Amino acid sequence: MEIKTIATAAFEGQKPGTSGLRKKVEVFQQPHYLANFVQSVFDALSDKEGKTLVVGGDGRFFNREAAQIIIKMAAANGFGKVILGKSGLMSTPAVSCVIRKYNAFGGIVLSASHNPGGPGHDFGIKYNVSNGGPAPEKVTDAIYENTTKITEYKILDVADAQIDEIGFSKVGDMELQVIDPVKDYAELMQKLFDFDLIKALFKKGKFTMRFDAMNAITGPYAKYILEDLLGAAKGTVVNGEPKPDFGGLHPDPNLVYAKELVDYMFGDEGADFGAASDGDGDRNMILGKKFYVNPSDSIAVLSNEFWNAPGYNRGLAGVARSMPTSSALDRVAADHGITCYEVPTGWKFFGNLMDANKVTLCGEESFGTGSSHVREKDGLWAVLFWLNIIATRCASVEDIVKTHWNKFGRNYYSRHDYEAVDSKIAADVMKDLESKFDSLKGQKLGSYEVKLADNFSYKDSVDGSVSKNQGLRIIFSDSSRIIFRTSGTGTEGATIRIYVEKYEPNPTKQNADPQDALKELIDIAEELSELKKRSHRDGPTVIT
Ligand code: G1P
Ligand code: ZN
Repeated sequence: MEIKTIATAAFEGQKPGTSGLRKKVEVFQQPHYLANFVQSVFDALSDKEGKTLVVGGDGRFFNREAAQIIIKMAAANGFGKVILGKSGLMSTPAVSCVIRKYNAFGGIVLSASHNPGGPGHDFGIKYNVSNGGPAPEKVTDAIYENTTKITEYKILDVADAQIDEIGFSKVGDMELQVIDPVKDYAELMQKLFDFDLIKALFKKGKFTMRFDAMNAITGPYAKYILEDLLGAAKGTVVNGEPKPDFGGLHPDPNLVYAKELVDYMFGDEGADFGAASDGDGDRNMILGKKFYVNPSDSIAVLSNEFWNAPGYNRGLAGVARSMPTSSALDRVAADHGITCYEVPTGWKFFGNLMDANKVTLCGEESFGTGSSHVREKDGLWAVLFWLNIIATRCASVEDIVKTHWNKFGRNYYSRHDYEAVDSKIAADVMKDLESKFDSLKGQKLGSYEVKLADNFSYKDSVDGSVSKNQGLRIIFSDSSRIIFRTSGTGTEGATIRIYVEKYEPNPTKQNADPQDALKELIDIAEELSELKKRSHRDGPTVIT
C-alpha cells in the first residue's frame, strides 16, 4: 500500500467563511483543489495519529468523489479510523452527533448547506472538532494559513473504498466503518422528546403534518422518525429522496425557496403543522395552518416552553442568539432569570458557551435552532420540539405563538438580502455607512432616535478570543434595530443582509404584516446606506 506524496501549489481564496469553504463545483473539481484543502486541515491538527475521523455529506453533486479522496488522504495521514455515513451521506447535525457519541477526534462535513447543488452550483467542506461543532477561528485561521503555503499532500494509492454497504473494511492500515447515517441520530432524538405523546397526537388522526425535505439529506431522517417511529401518515414527508442537484430546488427553507410548502400551508387544504429543512439538515422553517413562525420567535417560544420536552425539563443553563437575531429571546431569558448571550453570526460561536455549560438552547434568525445535544444547529430537532409542545399544549402553532406575544410582546422582524452585489460596490456601501456612525448618535431619524451605532465586536467569555467586524448596528432608543452585515457564505460577488427589528408590546397591534410594521425602519436603512440605489436594484433578492 503506497502512500503517494503529490506535489501541488497553493490555490488562492481557500479561506473558510461563516461555515467552511464554499465554492462552485467546478472550482472544487480542479485537480488538487479539494486535496489541498484537506491536507491543510490535517496539517492544522496535532495528535491525529491513530484517531477517528467522521465523514458525511448532504449528497450533493461531488459528494461521493470528495468522500473517496478524504478517505484515502485520512489513511495516508495516519488516522486510525474513518466513520462514514453510508454512501458518504450524513446530515450536519448527525455528523455532530456521531462525533460526540463515538468520541471521535473530529469530522468533515461535505456540504454547501442551503446553497443549490449540481454542476454550475455550489459545493463545500468544513472541519468540525471533537466537541462535534465547527472548528473555532483559531483552527480555521491555521487551516487557511496552511492553504497559502502548501506544496504537497499525501494520499494512499488504492482503489476506491466500498462505501455503499454498512460494515467494516480496511483502507491501507486504516479502518473504515460505514454506518447507517440515521440510527444514532434517531436514538438521540428519542432521548430528548416524548415520542409516545407525539405518537398519540398523530394517532388521533385529526392532526396533520407536511415536512418538505427539499430533495435534500433530511428525507431519510424525517421519513424514519416522523412516519416510521411516530406514526405520521405515509406521504407526510415530501421531496424525501436526497438528489445530487436537489431536483433543481434551492434547498433553503424560507418563504421564498420553500414556496411549494408555503402555498400548501396557506391554502384551505393545508396541514396543521408544516416544516422544511435545508440541504444538509441543520436549518428549519416552522409553519402552522396559514401561519408562519419567524425563526427569532421560534427559539424564543422553545426557550419559554422548554419544560414540555423530557430532555430539557430540568431547566436551561442559559440561552444564546446571534447578534442579528431578534431580542425576543432576551425577554424570555429575563423572565426565567437566566442569561441570554449575544454572539456573532455563525454557529461556531455557540460551541464554547455550550461546552462550558453556560447555554442549553440557542438560535439564529437564519432558520437555525439548536441545543447542547449536539454542536450544530438541528432542523429536525426543532421540528420535534415543536411537535412535543403542540402535543402537550393541545394548541395550534398560531395559538402558541400568539399567546407568547401576548405575554412577552412581539418583536417584528425581517431580513432583506441583496445577493450577488458587485463586491466593490458592497464594500463601499458598508465603509461609507460605518463612516457616518460617529455623527449618528443622538440623531433623530423619522420617529426614531439613535442610541448607538457601532461595528459589533465580540469577546468570547470562555476563551477570551475577540472577533471584530461582525456587523454594523444601529440601535434606537426604543430598542428597535437596523443591522447591516456582509454574508460569509455567498459564492458570487457579495451579499449584504439588512436585519430590521421593532418591539411591539401592545397585543392589539401585534397582527400587522411585518413589512408594514417595519416600513419606516426599512426606509431609514435605505436612506442611510443607499444600498438599493448604489447596487442598481429595485429591492432585495430575498425577504424573510
Ligand atoms: C448564513 C447565516 C448564518 C448561518 C450561516 C450558516 O451566514 O446568516 O446565520 O450561521 O449562514 O448556515 P452568512 O451568509 O450570513 O454569513
Ligand atoms: Zn445548512
